[in-house]
Amino acid sequence: MKKLIIIILTIVIILTTYIASFNKDKGKDNRYILDIKKNYKYYKEENKNRYIKYKQSHYNLKDEDIITRVNLNLDKDFYTNTRPSKYLNSSYILINKYLFLEKNYVPADLKKIDICTKGNIYLVNEALIEFQKMCIDMKKENLSIRAISAYRDYNYQLNLYNKYLVHDSKKNVDTYSARPGFSEHQSGLVIDIDNTITNFDDFESTDEFIWMRDNAYKYGYILRYPKGKENITGYQYEAWHYRYVGKKIATYIKKHNITFDEYYVRFIDY
Ligand code: DAL
Ligand code: ZN
Repeated sequence: MKKLIIIILTIVIILTTYIASFNKDKGKDNRYILDIKKNYKYYKEENKNRYIKYKQSHYNLKDEDIITRVNLNLDKDFYTNTRPSKYLNSSYILINKYLFLEKNYVPADLKKIDICTKGNIYLVNEALIEFQKMCIDMKKENLSIRAISAYRDYNYQLNLYNKYLVHDSKKNVDTYSARPGFSEHQSGLVIDIDNTITNFDDFESTDEFIWMRDNAYKYGYILRYPKGKENITGYQYEAWHYRYVGKKIATYIKKHNITFDEYYVRFIDY
């Protein structure tokens, strides 16, 4: 009888301790949620449990980064939970590994680049005007850039992606080539450049790159896939790939050293 009482008492103590610690954690989670809800306008109620979970596995991250990354779906695998991009035909459209362009999407206002180009390359007019201005200003400083690729349609990207797959694994290819529909080249707001002499994938070693790094934002362009941000963009660093987002957004991104993905969920679609 005495033994039975001891066993029951032990069980009661264990259960009470467990419930108390569970409630304490819950209280902590609730306080955390109240806190971030108050401080961040891009907090989303439907992501509440995902913020708590993401914080547990990324305790070094700042709150703004936890909310931003969950809002970007970075707690889910790339190419899952995909949906069509919003804001078609605007310079602040986001295309990434969760947001895609339909097969038949062709941007309005595509124009052929007529200076600083390898030839037969198209860009959205607003981006083209700024690109050409930038190139002319660089020439004044004895620097040369040239467009080597810009607008690419769905089928072009499909062929490119499949061509890479012949020699490389899908896992690797996904780190440097977008799947068809998921390339922002299809938006007509992107330009790959070289300096006419050095191979494009060595653009980082050129004086033109230094100039672009310091000045491209004045023309509304950003380095879209920066070094050290691979886990946010989903792509390897590309020193040659520039995205037109307009001067206001480009200036903010440059000043705060964030990606366009982060800017988008904080200031555009929240
Ligand atoms: N290389 C970039 C990621 C693209 O394929 O669009
Ligand atoms: Zn590119």
